[in-house]
Amino acid sequence: MGKTPQMGMGGLAILVVLFMGSVMPQLSSGFEKGTIRQLVTKYNVTSVLVFGDSSVDPGNNNRLPTPMKGNFPPYGKDFFQARPTGRFSNGRLATDFIAEALGFTKIIPAFLDPNLKPKDLLHGVSFASAASGYDELTANFSNVLSIPRQLQYLKHYKLQLRRVVGVKNAEWAVKNAVFVLSMGTNDFLQNYYLEPERAKQFTVEQYQDFLSTQMLHSIKEMHRLGARRLVVVGVPPLGCMPLVKTLRGGEEQNKCVEAINQVASSFNSKIKANLALLHRTLGIKDAYVDCYAVLQNALSTPQTYGLAETAKGCCGTGTIEYGDTCKGLSTCEDASKYAFWDAVHPTQKMYQIIADEAIKSLSEALIR
Ligand SMILES: *[C@@H]1O[C@H](CO)[C@@H](O)[C@H](O)[C@H]1NC(C)=O
Ligand SMILES: *[C@@H]1O[C@H](CO)[C@@H](O)[C@H](O)[C@H]1NC(C)=O
Repeated sequence: MGKTPQMGMGGLAILVVLFMGSVMPQLSSGFEKGTIRQLVTKYNVTSVLVFGDSSVDPGNNNRLPTPMKGNFPPYGKDFFQARPTGRFSNGRLATDFIAEALGFTKIIPAFLDPNLKPKDLLHGVSFASAASGYDELTANFSNVLSIPRQLQYLKHYKLQLRRVVGVKNAEWAVKNAVFVLSMGTNDFLQNYYLEPERAKQFTVEQYQDFLSTQMLHSIKEMHRLGARRLVVVGVPPLGCMPLVKTLRGGEEQNKCVEAINQVASSFNSKIKANLALLHRTLGIKDAYVDCYAVLQNALSTPQTYGLAETAKGCCGTGTIEYGDTCKGLSTCEDASKYAFWDAVHPTQKMYQIIADEAIKSLSEALIR
């Protein structure tokens, strides 16, 4: 089949994007969204199915007996109707922006949401659960949905979808969905560096290999259940989170904790190697979202992104509160100037920046 030598309209559109991007960066993202919608149509993309942790959980934890929740003010302060949904941010998550850019929906609902409508199943849902990770034990500590449990719910989803569109269409819809996987942070912060069990079993290098094996295992299961296109979000620079700086920063409270960033970055290399392997062996069309680089760029040159505060979160003192400890606290005035909403999680503004980057990577997962 090979690549066609002459340049069709697709090639032209890409050239226009490159040109506009260099001359007028503020317009580039709108143009890419036009391009991505053409790709969605061309490649029959049906929906977005999301797995992972608080970075992509729109409120599944609201339905679980866990303390890891964000369904009270000030969470959701800048969401539609200022509604706290369970999203660990002031507004929408990157996956909400991605689904909107693809033309599906402005908000991806939680699969466990009791108000879920049949038509929501068609656009995509999230099975993600805050405090989860690649290691099943990470989820178990907080009594949230591990990846095996999230994949179990994918099976329920498929059964429900069959009732709406029939068996053949449901199978086709899942094969043409974009799967998103975003987690890893809690395996280090809520598990390895906090609880003795894994730290006794593994060095941090060995633990990364262990997580990497778990990841391969989970994605193979995902593939068995129909996943053909997969976008994996790498872990962010963990050492730059306000909470980590507060707890481990020592004398220099304002600098990122380099040793922890190093761990995050080497784990990301393993994620990328796994994706290459899965592409070769199972033919999964994959894309990697370099969340680490996006955040690091935003933290080192905040002005370029319209940000003014990147060291502290917007909730409370911004140095230690997240989830329950942020409940009912006062916030900064304008969260859109902040990179972090609480001491751990990005603001809606930061998620929008990450989504713009993800949308660029996404075309790879379609075309590859
Ligand atoms: C999209 O679906 C149409 C109709 O089923 C099919 O003919 C076409 O080959 C599909 N395109 C891709 C890229 O899979
Ligand atoms: C996590 O909990 C589940 C359900 O209780 C259990 O089957 C599983 O073995 C646990 N996993 C780990 C790693 O402890």
